[in-house]
Amino acid sequence: MKNPFLFGPPVSGDQFYDREELGRELFRAVENGTNVLLYGPRRYGKSSLVTRVAEKLRADGHPCIFFDMMKVNSMEHFLQAYASAALSLQGRATKSLSALARFLKGLRPKLTIGETGEPSLEMDFSGGPPTTKTLEDVLALPESIRTGRKNVIVVFDEFQEIERLSSDLPAERIFRSVIQRQKHVNYVYLGSRTHLLKRMFTDAARPFYQSALVLEMEKPPRDESVAFLRDRFRHGGIQADAAALEAIVDASENVPYYLQALAYEAFEQADADGRKTLSAADVPPALARCIRRMRDSFETVVENLSDNQRTVLSALAREPAASFDTAYRTRHRLPVYTSISSALKVLVSKGLVESSRRTHRLADPFLAVWLREPVCIAE
Ligand SMILES: Nc1ncnc2c1ncn2[C@@H]1O[C@H](COP(=O)(O)OP(=O)(O)O)[C@@H](O)[C@H]1O
Ligand SMILES: [Mg+2]
Repeated sequence: MKNPFLFGPPVSGDQFYDREELGRELFRAVENGTNVLLYGPRRYGKSSLVTRVAEKLRADGHPCIFFDMMKVNSMEHFLQAYASAALSLQGRATKSLSALARFLKGLRPKLTIGETGEPSLEMDFSGGPPTTKTLEDVLALPESIRTGRKNVIVVFDEFQEIERLSSDLPAERIFRSVIQRQKHVNYVYLGSRTHLLKRMFTDAARPFYQSALVLEMEKPPRDESVAFLRDRFRHGGIQADAAALEAIVDASENVPYYLQALAYEAFEQADADGRKTLSAADVPPALARCIRRMRDSFETVVENLSDNQRTVLSALAREPAASFDTAYRTRHRLPVYTSISSALKVLVSKGLVESSRRTHRLADPFLAVWLREPVCIAE
């Protein structure tokens, strides 16, 4: 039987549950011409939700660009990739290339058509690094080359990454000033580095201050998660009892990605054993298999941390903390507060620790389980 669970890429159809209200709010805002920031921890389902909303917007006649900032490695790369994306808004790429050449004077854009038929652009930066003007011109493309009457929708996934582009140019300020002038393009900003994004949009000194409706993605309601799991197992021919479903939601801390990853393992095992039922006792072995599978990446994460950072991470894996008071520090043999605080900053900026509602906890519940495992086992 085919495994009914999927984790990793954005999900849709039967593999997608909940998020109706947030999806409606997002759709309405964009239809009304409002720019939106949707933020929330990694793996909660932001990209999935926006992909779904973008499908609806496309069906309504809005041309959409979905642009993943995480994959961009330099300003030059951004400019070429973004101009290509803008170009693909038009059916007939070669015709718009001449328009593009007009807009991007001096960069001699050259069009190549990839194996999949997607146009891609190369630009000539031999005359010097990109300037403010180049970035402005490229960002203006969706507005300048759009046809049709409906607004173009641009989704910037992992938007906080524009900070990485900014070494020579004040990218944040340039983005904001171009975006502000456009009348026929709406933006959806997505991002997982919650603290960076919040600061970007709520700090009065920053260019993006109050420039978007801010929506937060939280965990789905627990009962929706339970119902989703029950339905999907049933779809795969397995009756999971209530305790098994609760155990999966607990171990995954009700984060959609981990929920699907764990359910996937549990299903695989039941299927391999030829079982048609799943009980709570089947969940811990499935969790152990998930963790074995992820061990390499956990090791890499920890290898790249200082001793101090490791100590704080391990303490938080054992016990999420609101404050690092003396009792907590003694329990977990932590150093003085100032060292904890600087370690914490790094852990948060790496996305390993989530700080919300005044509590610090590991973003990855499976990494927490792995860190809690005994260091040595005597048999
Ligand atoms: N609405 C949803 N229903 C079911 N699973 C989901 C949902 N949203 C996310 N997931 C799970 O989480 C994984 C990561 O989703 P993604 O949208 O990429 O999250 P994010 O963009 O917040 O990091 C998906 O592959 C899927 O397993
Ligand atoms: Mg994402």
